[in-house]
Amino acid sequence: MAKKVLSGIQPSGSLTLGNYIGAIKNFVKLQEEHECYFMVVDLHAITVSQDPAALRENSESVAALYLAAGIDPVVSNVYMQSHVQQHAELGWIITTLTAMGELERMTQFKDKSSGKDSVGAGLFVYPSLMAADILIYNADLVPVGEDQKQHLELTRDLAGRFNHRFGEFFTVPEPYIPEVGARIMSLDDGTKKMSKSNPNPGSYIALLDPPDVIRKKISRATTDSGREVIFDPATKPEISNLMSIYAECSGMTLQQIADRYEGQMYGGFKKDLGEVLVATLEPLQQKYHEIRSSGALTDILAEGAERARNVAAQTLAGVKERMGFLPLR
Ligand code: AMP
Ligand code: TRP
Repeated sequence: MAKKVLSGIQPSGSLTLGNYIGAIKNFVKLQEEHECYFMVVDLHAITVSQDPAALRENSESVAALYLAAGIDPVVSNVYMQSHVQQHAELGWIITTLTAMGELERMTQFKDKSSGKDSVGAGLFVYPSLMAADILIYNADLVPVGEDQKQHLELTRDLAGRFNHRFGEFFTVPEPYIPEVGARIMSLDDGTKKMSKSNPNPGSYIALLDPPDVIRKKISRATTDSGREVIFDPATKPEISNLMSIYAECSGMTLQQIADRYEGQMYGGFKKDLGEVLVATLEPLQQKYHEIRSSGALTDILAEGAERARNVAAQTLAGVKERMGFLPLR
């Protein structure tokens, strides 16, 4: 049987090149041989305050970007997390199996809550909902960037815990984290992750940035001292990051890139990288706008949700039966 793949991205701002290389590009690759579930995780997005109009716009935008990047909604299930109510219900159940101490150790929670006066409880229990997202389809593989690894480990523990207490039931999922590109760094600081929540837009490439903005951001990207185009993240984090981006968007290996720019300075390399990115993102942007204006998204999301709901409802019924919930009749 085809292995099941599940992943999700939050509609909490404009998606970046980090989301594309670390996640979406792998979604597209995996759909060829797997049964895939790709969600827009709106229930996760509301763990920090969202403006309703912005949430609506970002939700449509992420869904359209999935399709523009090459996810085929006939082959894969593309849908909104909130359209499959079973996620929230299993999320609650999984929360009751999760220890406070486990959630307290999550580095994403520590980062997102640090320095805040008031932190929502949803942000704290967010990893239990993410575990439910994955377990409800018995997903085998979860393609994500490096920053989600800890959440995946918790998901595996929770699946094991349920199986131990209530009998073998859930598949224990494996993370699928790419070797190159799992952690695309910020353009203004090679030690920080590229993130859509960074207040400096020069620190990230948004997937919908116009070509000239992309070229300008790359030409202004911080580079390490020295002048050689060599891949060595420990001593040259910034040039190594740009090389990873180049490799991921051109299909060349890091070695081929190092060979091509041997003896040259950063300027030519950055100029070419700008063009590589424009060549990657321009067609994606064109498709994105076509999809948005076609009006087809509503039906695609409804069909995706319907198929996902059938699978999710079955799993949830099995969970409730094993845990001793009284059936309706
Ligand atoms: P988020 O934007 O936090 O919802 O993340 C969506 C997906 O993109 C997750 O799988 C992340 O691990 C991945 N991701 C986000 N930022 C990066 C980055 N800078 N490098 C690689 N992957 C990333
Ligand atoms: N927590 C993930 C992130 O911030 C998003 C997410 C929610 C997710 N549910 C998921 C990722 C299930 C993979 C599988 O990026």
